Amino acid sequence: MESKNFLVVILLVLTQFTEPVKSQGPTNNSIAAAVSDAAREVSARRSGGLVQAQRAASGQSGPQGMAAPPAASPVDTPVSIHARFFSRREAPDFVEAVGFAGDLVTTATANFAERNGGALPDSAEFRRQLVPYCPMRSPVCNPNDLYRTANGSCNNLRNPLWGASFTTQARFLPPAYGDEFNLGSIPRRKSITGVPLPSPRDISNALFNTGTSPPRSKRFSIALTHFGQFIDHDFVSTPILRDDDQDIDCCNGNTPVIRPECFSFSTPPGDFKTTCMPFVRSDFGVEPGCIPGPRNQINQRTSFLDLSVAYGNTLDGQKDLRENGTGRLLEGLNRILPDGPPGTECLNGETCFKSGDNRPAEVPMLTVIHIIFLREHNNIVERLRSLGYSDGEQLYQEAKKILTGVYQHIIYTEYLPVILGDEGMDIFGLRSTPSGFNTQYNPSVNAATRNSFGAAAYRFGHSLVGSLVESYNEDFTPRDKEPMEDHFFSTRLIRNFDDKFGPDAISRWMTTQFKSKSDRFLTPAVRNRLFQTMPKNGFDLSALNIQRGRDHGIPAYNRWRQFCGLHAAQHFGTNYNGLTDHDSLSAKALKSVYRSPDDIDLFAGGLTEKIAPGALVGPTFRCLIGFQFMLFKTGDRFFYENNFYPTRFSAAQLQQIKKQTLSALYCRTMDVNTMPESSFDTPLAGKERKPCNTFPGLDLKPWANIYNSYKGNK
Ligand code: HEM
Repeated sequence: MESKNFLVVILLVLTQFTEPVKSQGPTNNSIAAAVSDAAREVSARRSGGLVQAQRAASGQSGPQGMAAPPAASPVDTPVSIHARFFSRREAPDFVEAVGFAGDLVTTATANFAERNGGALPDSAEFRRQLVPYCPMRSPVCNPNDLYRTANGSCNNLRNPLWGASFTTQARFLPPAYGDEFNLGSIPRRKSITGVPLPSPRDISNALFNTGTSPPRSKRFSIALTHFGQFIDHDFVSTPILRDDDQDIDCCNGNTPVIRPECFSFSTPPGDFKTTCMPFVRSDFGVEPGCIPGPRNQINQRTSFLDLSVAYGNTLDGQKDLRENGTGRLLEGLNRILPDGPPGTECLNGETCFKSGDNRPAEVPMLTVIHIIFLREHNNIVERLRSLGYSDGEQLYQEAKKILTGVYQHIIYTEYLPVILGDEGMDIFGLRSTPSGFNTQYNPSVNAATRNSFGAAAYRFGHSLVGSLVESYNEDFTPRDKEPMEDHFFSTRLIRNFDDKFGPDAISRWMTTQFKSKSDRFLTPAVRNRLFQTMPKNGFDLSALNIQRGRDHGIPAYNRWRQFCGLHAAQHFGTNYNGLTDHDSLSAKALKSVYRSPDDIDLFAGGLTEKIAPGALVGPTFRCLIGFQFMLFKTGDRFFYENNFYPTRFSAAQLQQIKKQTLSALYCRTMDVNTMPESSFDTPLAGKERKPCNTFPGLDLKPWANIYNSYKGNK
């Protein structure tokens, strides 16, 4: 990317894109009428939301409380599993309030635009009218607080809600929806030629299908795939719309259901049981202050790389995962994740897990990564206790701070260099220094997870997913295997300690076997059989990704090429001004489904690019992923390398953090005696295994004297 373009892009992001306002609206009366009409309309659509929004707006409720387990469907179906995957475990009332206000804002903006020739309302008057419903209240922050808040607020002291849980996903570029005023009531669904865009399943069949299991990487391990997935669950969780407490089924046999929440699409006869693939649109929220504007989807997680995936993202959620007064996290039998309420985060009839995120059992390999962090937290607590710490809150917070530092260090020194390559790391200034502080914090940077990143670019990881769950013996010889599609949202293999699986045996396999290659192909386990409960009733994950991008109004691939300082394709050839970052087979496949290069969906165009040198993704995804991780670093006041008193690590503490690796964590938390230097580099490619006692321990002596400073800050 040319540096000039890159600077322009940075400026645009720092100034926070907002929709261009055409002109100011005529009268205050017409704004009041647009809002009150919208309130009536939205109350009819979201019956419970009005009360929740008014309660939140009057300060009577905030992001707190635990969701009651959803009414369990008598039998699992792909639709019920998908809905559970997006369930709202924490702060359900607040999400309801935020969703109501989001709907009210976009509906009132549309009402006004319709009545005033497309003009947007005067923002100040609009906000005044919205006060009784607007749930986002900025907290008062204490700059001397030692630790991150549970919901990520007050990280940025000038804009306390930047990156907080339940705020909206930010945007690199304005949305491209399908309705007249581009507000989001209709998704992006038309080609620039005016005809409907191709069905996501047709695109998937043309681009992402190998027929059998796709080829494997020749170097990187399965641990890379699922560590990446764990990170994703740390920075984004987008709820889908619900009908009170009911899951919405958007297909009636072969017929798409027509209602505002639905955006189902057709599939070719024979691919699945029916020719309609159900799709529920994502819920959407509001900016602080309820400014007029388009639909922006909610992020239930904090946007920071703060391990909210393990610890939770509200105070109540965190408490629910903690042992009373000891600083420890709750553990289940055999030091696995603790049991969650039935029917919440796993298949019917099983005992679920609970963690900071609602998807810990999505696949057993992901649960393994959760267990590593859970066990290490409790290890750190015990070692701090042996240094003289006794206050449960301090033990919890300090162990959490240490583990979050280790986690960020692994992301920026081990994970990202593999995904982005040397060039990507350098373009975005992502490298950590080998020792010492390296403060890159910029209070003008909003770290909030960008919509195009979560809904498209970071989903590149779906190509790394394999087809099996396997277990290995202590000597790293194969023990057993199961098809992955039989274990989505199942806790059985993790609980299976005495027999063939369990987290330790699965982790030995994960750090030995090659992952699926990073290319444009997805395993049939997720492309044809995602959440399948009987033959041919599953989802196609890549088709969902494309449709999700359209649902969120993600502009087409060419716009992102320009955003990244790359040229837009003017034709489907791979020569000058065409798809120059594609090989001819991919370009041909794109041509077979899209009418114009300007129609290509971001996920489809990005995943089919040739891999950038030394990276696992092509230039467009490298740009969006690199950019977002730059924001996660420079927009996080608590980033582990920052030198800000009193929240920083001391120099001696930071030195210990910077010695840590994911392999060292595996050694301390899993039943393994040896590990490769990097757990992402498999020994099958010739990397030697080293005895665990040669990996650096986490020496906590530099933490011995901090007790008094904590008390002073309490
Ligand atoms: C077997 C492993 C995996 C399964 C079964 C899985 C499944 C899913 C599903 C069902 C969705 C929601 C689709 C939709 O309706 O929009 C999703 C979203 C997503 N996935 Fe995966 N995924 C897996 C692995 C990964 C990996 C390895 C990555 C990245 C390295 C990843 C990144 C994402 C992201 C960023 C989202 C958006 C999440 C949100 O907005 O809430 N996934 N995945």
